[in-house]
Amino acid sequence: MKHKVALIGFGTVGQGLAEILQARATALEVNSGVTFVVVAVSDLLKGSVYQPDGLDLGLLLDLARRGERLDAYPDGPGMIRGWDSLTTISASQADTVVEVSWTDVKTGQPAISHVKAALASGKHAVLTNKGPIALAYHELQAAADAAGRLLRFEGTVMSGTPSIRLGRQALAGCQISEIKGILNGTTNYILTQMEAGTSYADALASAQRLGYAEADPTADVEGFDALAKVVILANALLGAHVNLTSVPRQGITGLSQADIAAAAAAGERWKLIGRVTRQADGTVAASVQPLRLPFAHPLAGVSGVTNAITFTTDLLGDVTLVGPGAGRQETGFAVLSDLLD
Ligand code: HSE
Repeated sequence: MKHKVALIGFGTVGQGLAEILQARATALEVNSGVTFVVVAVSDLLKGSVYQPDGLDLGLLLDLARRGERLDAYPDGPGMIRGWDSLTTISASQADTVVEVSWTDVKTGQPAISHVKAALASGKHAVLTNKGPIALAYHELQAAADAAGRLLRFEGTVMSGTPSIRLGRQALAGCQISEIKGILNGTTNYILTQMEAGTSYADALASAQRLGYAEADPTADVEGFDALAKVVILANALLGAHVNLTSVPRQGITGLSQADIAAAAAAGERWKLIGRVTRQADGTVAASVQPLRLPFAHPLAGVSGVTNAITFTTDLLGDVTLVGPGAGRQETGFAVLSDLLD
């Protein structure tokens, strides 16, 4: 089966996906029976190219590596250059639009408009930006349902580590009463480093140097990044209607080395925990805050940039998933997993 994809955005995640699709083409055909064909790439800065029979991923990646515009892609049958993102979405003959453009996390744009346009033109939509799903999950899901198309967003929480799919599919049939997790790698790295004796400032600086922190690390250390993920988990997995202003949020900037040492002396460890709980009256409570966990707790043993999430269920008890929460290949894989789904 051929599945045609239009890529909106060709930055880190778009290129990460293209690299995986190129390297895995044969394995995907053999193991999953699907040939993914990228028919369009449209990027605000790099330009845009559309070819109905499919583009050569190697040529696209070479252009990106050399810092050249996509317009430099060689001529081919039916080729159209220069379409903007909305034209690419509506006019391309794609089955799925993969939305990985640069998006303002505060407004969710232009990704929200891109996803709506994709669904309105009869295409499935996959995205990895958390802003649009944190801000507009119910609206976008309703649009997908009305269009009879699928909306997938695994990469918005824990990149390719399948937290959304675990909650929605693997645990379907269980009642999930609580979800709690280490949903931000930068803060977990800082806390791990501080426990080893590094100062907060030095730990943050090395998180930035290593490329874990957001461009503005306030989003990490004050808990905004984890907050967006908590809102997604609450709304998409537990059917809540919480938003970015209704969920209490506290970051790690108030924690001193003395706090961390005191916890360690008591056999506990501070973790920035995003939590979503189904309450006795059926409503859902959510929060982001630093919590002290006993060393024996599964989340307490998760160190460095690694993320983890524990689902508390009626039929299985606690189920914990541990894995990466960011990265080019990891988030590229999140998109692949959504495409396969
Ligand atoms: N800055 C984020 C983190 C990246 O540290 O986890 C993933 O959202």
